[in-house]
Amino acid sequence: MKVLLDSKQIQDRITELAAEIEASYPPDEEIHLVGVLKGGFVFMADLVRAMSARVTLDFIAVSSYQQSTRSSGEVRLLKDVDARLEGRHVIIVEDIVDTGLTLTYLQDILRARAPKSLKTACLLSKPSRRLVDVKVEFIGFTIEDKFVIGYGLDFAEKFRNLPHIAIMEET
Ligand code: IMP
Ligand code: MG
Repeated sequence: MKVLLDSKQIQDRITELAAEIEASYPPDEEIHLVGVLKGGFVFMADLVRAMSARVTLDFIAVSSYQQSTRSSGEVRLLKDVDARLEGRHVIIVEDIVDTGLTLTYLQDILRARAPKSLKTACLLSKPSRRLVDVKVEFIGFTIEDKFVIGYGLDFAEKFRNLPHIAIMEET
C-alpha cells in the first residue's frame, strides 16, 4: 500500500476547508452537516471540530458498493437523517465523489426536504470517473483514478481506521 495523503496533509486541508465553508454563510446563521455513513465518518469528525459552535450534525447511511472496487450504480438508503432539514443550511459531508451517482441520489432526496440551502463537501474527488455531472461546492483533494482506502474509506469494510489515505494495490 502506498500512502497518497498523510494525516498532516489531510488535517491542514480540512482546516482550510472549514474556513472556506464558514466564510460562505452569513456569520449568524446555523450550518447543519449531514455525514454520509460509513465512509464519511472520519472526515465529518475532523471537519466539525475545525468549525465553530454554530454547527449541528446528523448522519445518513447509503450503500452503493457490493465488496468491489467498482460502483454498481445502485444506491440504497439504509438510514435516514433524524432531524428535519426544512429551512436549514444543509451540507452533505461525503468521503469521495467517484461516478457521482451516490451524491446525485442524496442531493435529490435531501433537496426534496426544502432546506434553506443545500451544498456538498467531499474530501476526495475522482473527476475522471464521473458518470453524472454532480455539483460539489467543497472538495478537499482531486485524485487520479486509483482505488483508495483509509481515513473512513474501505475495501470490503476494512482499512477505514487508517489515519492516512493509501492507494490499494489491486490483486
Ligand atoms: P459514486 O456513487 O460512484 O460517486 O461512489 C461514491 C461512493 O463509492 C463513495 O461514497 C465511496 O463509499 C465509494 N468509493 C468510490 N471510490 C472509492 C475508493 O477509491 N475507495 C473506497 N471507496 C470508494
Ligand atoms: Mg461512501
